[in-house]
Amino acid sequence: MKSTLNVKNCSWDQFASLPTAQKIEFFKKDGRLYDVLISQQFNRELLEELINIANATRRIAKTKEGMIWLKNLLPHKRAMLYFIQPSTRTFLSFLNACHILGISISEVRDPSTSSEVKGETYEDTIRTFSSYVDVIIMRHPQEGYSEKATWVLNNSDRPVPIFNAGSGRDQHPTQALLDIYTLHRNFAKRGGIDGKTIAMVGDLQRGRTVRSLSYLLSNYEDVTLYFVAPERFQMKEDIKSFLEKKDISYHEVDNIDKILGKADAVYMTRIQDEHDVSGESKNYDYSNYRIGPENLSALKEDAIIMHPLPRRNEIDPIVDNDPRAKYWRQERNGMWIRAALLIKVFNVEESVIEYYDSTAI
Ligand code: CP
Repeated sequence: MKSTLNVKNCSWDQFASLPTAQKIEFFKKDGRLYDVLISQQFNRELLEELINIANATRRIAKTKEGMIWLKNLLPHKRAMLYFIQPSTRTFLSFLNACHILGISISEVRDPSTSSEVKGETYEDTIRTFSSYVDVIIMRHPQEGYSEKATWVLNNSDRPVPIFNAGSGRDQHPTQALLDIYTLHRNFAKRGGIDGKTIAMVGDLQRGRTVRSLSYLLSNYEDVTLYFVAPERFQMKEDIKSFLEKKDISYHEVDNIDKILGKADAVYMTRIQDEHDVSGESKNYDYSNYRIGPENLSALKEDAIIMHPLPRRNEIDPIVDNDPRAKYWRQERNGMWIRAALLIKVFNVEESVIEYYDSTAI
């Protein structure tokens, strides 16, 4: 059963205005992870469990026998990929995570091919998806619409888990999970993420990945964050106030040169000009928010460069040849952590860990 919270029959407005802590309880089922909607759902213990599942799955998949075993793990499950906002890697990594685990998929990527164009409501569209599948993975341009899908299905006779694969300018929690997995893998021999200095660079105000990652980083000890952005695109107050409450140290700076010698990870982002109403993004000089070969000597020798991708010109392609550039590995990590999420939500994580331990790959 869902949490005992009495939200059945409440209106969407009432549900949307619940405090985050109350919503987090509601997103669980029988005390377990169920809906994957916001980064605040993940504590350190759950993050470490997902990392272990992702590592085990990735290593099992290195052999043909392992791949066949994984393919037989969830062949009785079906997933809906509802991506009506552009995506390459989130879509493909979820799709391939489903392939690896034997999950069958359906997809809608263009709303003009669904009955939404005939005037079907969002609520009815989501209910229709749930008639056919066991999980709905969705990217939607409207903030809060993945939460709304959860609310819709809780008031139906067929609730299935909802995964938020990016919602408006709000959150992109599964991107943040793959970012944490990437940081964890790179810092595994250097004491982990605790105590590290992480710089986020670019359009921090409109980038949902940096918002979700900031929430997740608050689970680690003694991290220091640098927010490097033009003043107009600095991190929003809600995240800064959250970090202050969690006693996470952060600093706002306006030039990447100020952090290159300090950061253990430099997380680059692009300018999110698709959100422009007036073309204002063109009014700024972004030369202080890019990495080229000329910046590499200032970067610590063991630092890493990350980017959720896609990039524009904020990382010169020549930087790809530097061993500290980890963004291509980062996007591959997305497939493994998303497979881990599906494994966890469908409650087969013990089988994966047991198989991994028994085969000692
Ligand atoms: N990082 C990310 O979300 O990429 P896509 O938009 O290609 O899915």
